[in-house]
Amino acid sequence: MERLQKVMAMAGVASRRQCENLIREGRVKVNGEWVTAPGMKVDPRKDVIEVDGEPVFLEEKRTFLFYKPSGVITSMSDPRGRKTVADFFRDIPERVFPVGRLDYDTEGLLLVTNDGELANRLLHPRFEVEKVYVATVRGKPDKAAIRTLREGVRLEDGMTAPAKVRVLEASDSRSRLELTIHEGRNRQVRRMCAAVGHPVIHLKRTRLAFLTLSGLRRGEYRELTPQEVKRLRSRMGL
Ligand code: URA
Repeated sequence: MERLQKVMAMAGVASRRQCENLIREGRVKVNGEWVTAPGMKVDPRKDVIEVDGEPVFLEEKRTFLFYKPSGVITSMSDPRGRKTVADFFRDIPERVFPVGRLDYDTEGLLLVTNDGELANRLLHPRFEVEKVYVATVRGKPDKAAIRTLREGVRLEDGMTAPAKVRVLEASDSRSRLELTIHEGRNRQVRRMCAAVGHPVIHLKRTRLAFLTLSGLRRGEYRELTPQEVKRLRSRMGL
């Protein structure tokens, strides 16, 4: 038996704290009865939990490492009929979803999971998960541009946190930078590079926490090993 809010969080409804609020707001039923106090113990295999009238499903937790190609939407459906992550996961019966987002034209490492609790934490800024990107940019960033990227760039939604930056290759026409950040703002790397005068031509995410794309080709995925899941969950305080 587990606490109701924990089971809801594990099923990906929301964070534990948010689930407690849903319970207090009277939006949760267990076996057809309203529950309004968090903490009730439930049996996730037997009890029927509903939030706003929708059943909550508990499935075996599965987490995949996907090499997203560019030209793919990070979503499980697209009203405009473009290729989505779902097109690569048709054989997986569990209801998996991408953790966060890579732009349509960004390629690289994307986690796909049905572990809602893990996904919530990976996306929460508090846990400062490292994300490494290789950006091919126009021109050759000078020392001042690299320093600005390292120390923080002023974007319209505020300063970025300090980043690690390595110059992998530099020429007058284009250069390759490796940037390590732990924030996850919308189009952050593209905006950071553009802000210092070096628009991104190509962007690839190569690492998330300790996970890399090693052994995968574009469009391929693999399931995390039990050891990797354990290490990742433990890194996220689970
Ligand atoms: N930063 C970006 O600009 N785009 C991404 O897809 C990810 C990080």
